[in-house]
Amino acid sequence: MIDVLIVGGGGAGLRAAIAVAETDPELTVAVVSKVYPMRSHTVSAEGGAAAVIGVGDTLDEHCYDTISGGDWLCDQDAVEAFVQEAPRELIQLEHWGCPWSREDDGRVAVRPFGGMKRMRTWYAADKTGFHLLHTLFQTTLKYRDIVRYDEWYVTKLIVDDGRVHGVVAVELRTGRIETIAARTVILATGGCGRVFPFTTNAAIKTGDGMALAYRAGAPLKDMEFVQYHPTGLPFTGILITEAARAEGGWLINKDGYRYLQDYDLGKPTPTPKLRSMELGPRDRLSQAFVHEQELGRTIDTPYGPVVYLDLRHLGEGRIDARIPFVRELCKSYQNLDPATDLIPVRPVVHYMMGGVHTDLDGATPITGLYAAGETACVSINGANRLGSNSLPEILVFGRRAGLAAASFAKEHQEESEHRAVRTQGDDERRRLERVRDGSGKGERIADLREEMQHTLEGAAGIYRTGGVLAAAVDTLAELRERAEDALVDDSSTTFNTELINLQELHTMLDVAQAIVACALNRKESRGAHQRTDFSVRDDSAYLAHSLVHRAPDGTPSVGLLPVTITRWPPGERVYGRD
Ligand code: FUM
Repeated sequence: MIDVLIVGGGGAGLRAAIAVAETDPELTVAVVSKVYPMRSHTVSAEGGAAAVIGVGDTLDEHCYDTISGGDWLCDQDAVEAFVQEAPRELIQLEHWGCPWSREDDGRVAVRPFGGMKRMRTWYAADKTGFHLLHTLFQTTLKYRDIVRYDEWYVTKLIVDDGRVHGVVAVELRTGRIETIAARTVILATGGCGRVFPFTTNAAIKTGDGMALAYRAGAPLKDMEFVQYHPTGLPFTGILITEAARAEGGWLINKDGYRYLQDYDLGKPTPTPKLRSMELGPRDRLSQAFVHEQELGRTIDTPYGPVVYLDLRHLGEGRIDARIPFVRELCKSYQNLDPATDLIPVRPVVHYMMGGVHTDLDGATPITGLYAAGETACVSINGANRLGSNSLPEILVFGRRAGLAAASFAKEHQEESEHRAVRTQGDDERRRLERVRDGSGKGERIADLREEMQHTLEGAAGIYRTGGVLAAAVDTLAELRERAEDALVDDSSTTFNTELINLQELHTMLDVAQAIVACALNRKESRGAHQRTDFSVRDDSAYLAHSLVHRAPDGTPSVGLLPVTITRWPPGERVYGRD
């Protein structure tokens, strides 16, 4: 029996694996991932990782920026732990070989980032995620006890009497369906941006970990808070990093005007300033885009309305030195050169503030089950995450979950394999075989997925309204029924992507229903959740997390949980003013 089984081979999963291996070499660790770990979505993070380092910055200021950025929905004890441990994690990565960019005098370089009032974002040019994930991956290779199940897809958590006992997983290459018994399971599968049609998220980000926990009885938290990143390439949704604006890029509308000066985000400055308007928080910038669109000041393209990101004044030298990947991406995917051309951009779904409800050590209400990274909601991001907080989050809380799971596994060594491993494993194998053998005769998976994505975009986008959300509740319930009978043509066992796509559709539908139910229930506007029918923040009723449980028929049921306030009482979010 595996002591700690980790689902997901990205930053949070690998950091957790290292923490377990370092704690006790006797413990067995397995990492099950539907892709080879270096293809996990962490690899595509660009701009950087925030942690206090510089003279003049303080832990309290990082806490405050995070809490006000999150519109006071963050749990402040979690933020304090996060901010305290983040610098140590980034230094640890340096010791494991992460090539942080440096100043000329050899100090680690930091750049400003949206909503951060001090320079504290460490970076490795604009390929930070690639270097971070590579560093973690090569570090895991030191530990022979970390067993990898690469290209295996987990379809079920085995849970009995409120205690996790393992997982059922399909090996993609062979179609083999296996039950893996485990004392503890850590879910680290990333977010679920793919429930929307236009996203920076890789195709693998289908909310698997969230749905696994939710179906097994663990609640999801704050699912209505969906982050739009203001600068995605219009056709592909590929991220153009906030670092481009940190280096001095401007956002301009169709009249060549730096429109953000009209949105209480500061005044235009010729060179980047910490509080300059292009470095406002993502929720505010994405909302400003919608207003520009309503005023007819965006540019129509075949892929929707856009504004322009102007980097031309930075010059080729600075672009190549600080944001080379931006240039590479623009040339390859947009056929333009940012040194001489304007970049068309539009808001794009980027990150889920919500996830599996956990405590500060990643523990969920199911005994032995943990979650970390974007899959989890600890919660440090509240109603709007600040850019560059998510990379340190996966490190800090990946490590914490790994340590907690290791300690639990050590205390339960006497336990042998639970009977549910066989019974639930057999049931799940039979279910998957039935699907693979073509039991479904209905609609195409892709058609159902597209309908779900457009329903989400229409109802749970940058602005929401009660009537449309209520209609989306019905549409999603109906889609769930139709998906039960979705057509599976492919009965082969070798890389049967159709079988996996159907499982992913089911997970996305679970998550989509949770998002819409929470958004309908929260009758106020806060951070990334903006209701046109309830346009102000209402602390008297909603200074609280949404907690959603899944009924056996799949229906979400939403309640509220108080936010933990330690030292920063709710206040006004102020940007661009000193
Ligand atoms: O724009 C970016 O580089 C994104 C960073 C983040 O989401 O933390």
